[in-house]
Amino acid sequence: MTVTECCYAVGFIFCALFAVVKWNTVRYSRKGMPPGSLGYPFIGETLPFLKQGPLFIKRGRSRYGNLFKTHALGSPVVISMDPDVNRYILLNEAKGLVPGYPDSMRKILGTNIAEVHGAVHKRVRGSLLSLIGPMAVKDRLLPEVDEFMRSFLDNWDGKTVDLQEKTVEIAFFSSLKAIVEDEPNSFLESFKAIFDKMAVGTLSLPFKIPGTEFYRGMKAREKLLTLLRDLIGKRRASSATHDDFLEHLIKTENVNQKLDDDEIIEQIITLLYSGYETVSTTTMMIIKYLNDNPSFLQEAEHFAIMQKKLPGERINWDDYKNMSQTRAVILETMRLASVISGVMRRTTNDIELNANIDGAYHLLGFIIPKGWRVYVYTREINFDPILYEEPSTFNPRRWLEKGLETHNHNMLFGAGGRVCPGKELGLVKISLFIHYFVTKYRWEEAEGNKKLMKFPRVLAPEGLHMKITKY
Ligand code: HEM
Repeated sequence: MTVTECCYAVGFIFCALFAVVKWNTVRYSRKGMPPGSLGYPFIGETLPFLKQGPLFIKRGRSRYGNLFKTHALGSPVVISMDPDVNRYILLNEAKGLVPGYPDSMRKILGTNIAEVHGAVHKRVRGSLLSLIGPMAVKDRLLPEVDEFMRSFLDNWDGKTVDLQEKTVEIAFFSSLKAIVEDEPNSFLESFKAIFDKMAVGTLSLPFKIPGTEFYRGMKAREKLLTLLRDLIGKRRASSATHDDFLEHLIKTENVNQKLDDDEIIEQIITLLYSGYETVSTTTMMIIKYLNDNPSFLQEAEHFAIMQKKLPGERINWDDYKNMSQTRAVILETMRLASVISGVMRRTTNDIELNANIDGAYHLLGFIIPKGWRVYVYTREINFDPILYEEPSTFNPRRWLEKGLETHNHNMLFGAGGRVCPGKELGLVKISLFIHYFVTKYRWEEAEGNKKLMKFPRVLAPEGLHMKITKY
């Protein structure tokens, strides 16, 4: 090769590399977009996004401000940490800001509630609310949860238990048993094993290549669909009656809430998925925080309730409503552990953030192009020193002050038309777990519980082992 040819070759390689590195920037280039970097083609900045988590976002914030762009999990994303803009986004689905979870999640979870909008969303949400909304909890579900927690927490005395494993079981089986009341334990166990494989795949790169979490997740989805179709078929063919969600979904006479079989299946997957990690992780983290901050153990509240009861008498709605300090502990745990770091939206048209969004003039002129994702990142707001004095301190008492739970910038359960319909059910499950746990047992952290991950999932990779003794 001559010197000239060598120069051409080097020049070509250099240009090719430059084109590869800058491909995303060129491809998505538009005037008026927020600052930020789009990383490499296809993978964008997925790896640092997943690996560094909150640190990646903190760095972005200090470099670009409260609103910046990146490319992660298969699409360009605008990350917003501005509380007013976040609220605006969640309250304005009709302007073209629909739920926009990553492709991996959409493909594995199917046409779930996040995938439907307008009138269909209203119908599906109405059906869900009739199953799990506050009225259903008060009238039907609370006794079932009470029964479940009591028997689940039986017999722990003298054992060392992995609280992570147990809280995962509590969250999953309490939901699955509400959906199908009388399937044998062997069915419930194998259903959980398949569901868990599916759930792991929801947060991965959506490449269907054997060996990847996404591939395993898609395969698990197929198996789950077969199981659920069989269950529905069995129910339709039987004349026996049941008192569970599946029966309610199949037999509802309310025309506004009638769902076909595919919609029933999606509804079941939605119920299991949405009420799973949120409830299990919060419950686990509560025990961890109470362990580290024993002065907040609100046992007096629970013993006061117990003293008014006959032996074996159930907790009722009024008792639950009297657990105000427990509620404060739950909310403080959710804030500090950031069980939900944020929620995602997708733009169905160009969104111009040029309005006076409750005084957010500083964002004047930014455009979020059609088809992009918006990560409404609420984790930073959870640590806002104006809203939460000494934000890094575990202080449940702050939630007893008037107004914090209903503050516009508290988005622990979302906001707007998608605000969590399972909030009260989730709080009831966690509160009743705490009730029976603190009135029955004391616990001590076992050796080797050092590691706790907070992103992308709150997780104790080696478990959270506690030595349990009778109180
Ligand atoms: C207790 C812990 C929980 C937390 C922190 C939580 C949080 C949230 C948040 C932040 C959203 C908004 C998502 C968005 O805007 O895209 C949401 C929506 C939702 N949650 Fe929960 N959730 C919890 C428990 C539950 C439970 C127990 C269920 C059901 C059994 C449930 C079912 C749902 C459903 C179906 C939606 C979607 C609503 C819609 O799109 O209209 N959640 N949740």
